[in-house]
Amino acid sequence: MDHATQVHLIDRVFDMIDRRTTEMDPAEYHNPVSRYTDPERYKREVEIIFRRNPIIVAHGSELPKPGDYKTMDVTGVPILLVRTQDGSVNAFVNACRHRGTKLVWEECGSHKRSFVCPYHAWTYGTDGKLVGVPAAEGFPNMKREEMGLRRLHCAERYGFVFVQVDPTAPKVDVDAWLGPMAHELEHIGTADYVVWRPAQLEKKTNWKLALDTFLENYHTRRTHTKTIWPVFLDNTAAFDRLSPHARVVLPKRSIPEIRDQDRETWNLRDHSTVLYTIFPNLMLAVLPDHCAIFQVWPDGIDNCKLPAYTLVPPKYLESATAQDIWSKSMHVVFEVTEEDSDRSEAIQAALNSGANDHFVFGRYEQALAWFHQEVEAMLNGQADWVRYAEAAE
Ligand code: FES
Ligand SMILES: [Fe+2]
Repeated sequence: MDHATQVHLIDRVFDMIDRRTTEMDPAEYHNPVSRYTDPERYKREVEIIFRRNPIIVAHGSELPKPGDYKTMDVTGVPILLVRTQDGSVNAFVNACRHRGTKLVWEECGSHKRSFVCPYHAWTYGTDGKLVGVPAAEGFPNMKREEMGLRRLHCAERYGFVFVQVDPTAPKVDVDAWLGPMAHELEHIGTADYVVWRPAQLEKKTNWKLALDTFLENYHTRRTHTKTIWPVFLDNTAAFDRLSPHARVVLPKRSIPEIRDQDRETWNLRDHSTVLYTIFPNLMLAVLPDHCAIFQVWPDGIDNCKLPAYTLVPPKYLESATAQDIWSKSMHVVFEVTEEDSDRSEAIQAALNSGANDHFVFGRYEQALAWFHQEVEAMLNGQADWVRYAEAAE
């Protein structure tokens, strides 16, 4: 973020320290437990939130050169990403247009100029066009130009690849969708980073429960007593909506050190973790010289997958010292995630017990309340993806 915003946020933190409190909403927020357990609602979450919006599915550094490709499953839809000769990324449903089998089976690869279906060998270009049909005399009435791979709206911004998984969804203007988040990503420099050491976690929780653990630091003292509580100010955070995304600044105990220093030298990144939610499911933690990414994908109503990776500056990739710092940092991040998972999986196990018909979020659990309000608004058609779609016209 720009320096003026950093100074403004640091001033807010000092104000909280002076007042011995944190920023708060006017009242508690009540979140019905059915939002985690209702199968009809879950179906709508997947269809509306995950398939119609532009969702981050990759970082550009995972397919840096023309002909590089990556496949994935996004909420049950097989996706193929490929970087074309002109440097842009194309996204397709990874299903052959003949009889629909999966076209590309490898998770990733390079130097592709075409993709050959493993079933009957129909062949597609990296632009998705159908370029080869063996024994073509069997299809005298087929119009090849109509039989290209099903293309998905796709855009690469600030290093991230956004895809709208539903091919029938109206195109969303990704710049409008990012809104104020664009400015933040530009300043973090995510386009210049590369993915380092991707990992895959799975949790036995509803996808929103997994995200909930990232969205407040009221629990840090008790849940992360030995890991990060000694590092961060207790239950102190500066939260801002960057709709439909959000930013939470988690100040470290070291932040008062800079109070008497020249404000021009203040650097928020040295004395806090800034945690962004890129709606609906990507958590980006800005750490001193790298970023930690967690993404939460629903995998049924009571399971989720959490791919995680580190974004690092490529110029230090060969540095043993840098790798050591990143490794230690990510070790703590994964340790903390495990501590959170213990809590969230236990919540999941008791969701249907009748103990709670709603959860109450405290006034300082602001980001939690924001997140559930945002999800609710999207499901009810009150949110902005319609507006973003119009912006694309
Ligand atoms: S299903 Fe792909 S060529 Fe037949
Ligand atoms: Fe936590």
